[in-house]
Amino acid sequence: MIAIITGASSGIGREIARILARDYDLVLVARREERLAIFCEELNQVIKRDGTVCRAVAFPCDVSQSSECHRLYEAFRDQPVEILVNGAGLGGFGQICEVQESQEMSMLDVNIRALHLLTKCFIRDMIERKRGYILNIASSAAYMPGSPFMATYYASKAYVLSFSRSIAYEPAVKNSGVYVGSLCPGPVATEFHQVAGFKGNPGGMSPKKCAEYAVKMMFRRKKVIIPGFFVKFTYFGAKILPAGLLLKLAEIHQIRKSKKG
Ligand SMILES: NC(=O)c1ccc[n+]([C@@H]2O[C@H](COP(=O)([O-])OP(=O)(O)OC[C@H]3O[C@@H](n4cnc5c(N)ncnc54)[C@H](OP(=O)(O)O)[C@@H]3O)[C@@H](O)[C@H]2O)c1
Repeated sequence: MIAIITGASSGIGREIARILARDYDLVLVARREERLAIFCEELNQVIKRDGTVCRAVAFPCDVSQSSECHRLYEAFRDQPVEILVNGAGLGGFGQICEVQESQEMSMLDVNIRALHLLTKCFIRDMIERKRGYILNIASSAAYMPGSPFMATYYASKAYVLSFSRSIAYEPAVKNSGVYVGSLCPGPVATEFHQVAGFKGNPGGMSPKKCAEYAVKMMFRRKKVIIPGFFVKFTYFGAKILPAGLLLKLAEIHQIRKSKKG
């Protein structure tokens, strides 16, 4: 059985790949070819729980291009793909009047369009086979009313949560036993913050811990996965506190993060 992981060159996606290597052959997707090749070498040494050796292949691909998502699907549509993890994603900091349009559009292409397309392609075959798991990486941002300075990112993650939740309840998905879930972590110590343009690293949960919890909950078929006590607490806070207050707190938080050296 095969697991396809986008965003496997770094952070949460890479740690999820390490865990799944114990039971699955892997397709590792990201743009940085060399990193993927080195990671494949590591994973190709792993002895799976059934005693066979993990076979990991790199699939260098820019998922912001729809044609590349289709290329990925065509390459593996006839293979027994049991798991798809849509982990590729990025954030960006700045006010709407300042951030470059191209930067925002490419964020939307990765965070939304690629995740949507890959889910749509692979889920059809999973439904037909009556088995499969799709784990879409959202964020705690997904259930917040939004955030000044990270408007596009927050909105993109709200899309991921809403889309994944909705399709999980569609009869074709539910009746086939295919799992669709969203992972909603708070801050995780990955390259994400650097890519998003924040100075320094705000820290957060280790990507390994986040990935372990995510995989455990995915196999327990939890539809919305929230790692960490504090983040669970914010989930309930977001339900009861006024949106205006949450937006103000988010603004203060983003400004602080942008200034941290
Ligand atoms: N870190 C956090 O605090 C946090 C919190 C909540 C949610 N998340 C979400 O978790 C997911 C993983 O992020 P992370 O924290 O692990 O960050 P990360 O370490 O920066 O990893 C991002 C991954 O996405 C890949 N990627 C980005 N653009 C791509 C593209 N156009 N085509 C293919 N792959 C692309 C990157 O690979 P290449 O650069 O090699 O292409 C990398 O493997 C994201 O969706 C993020 O929004 C992160």
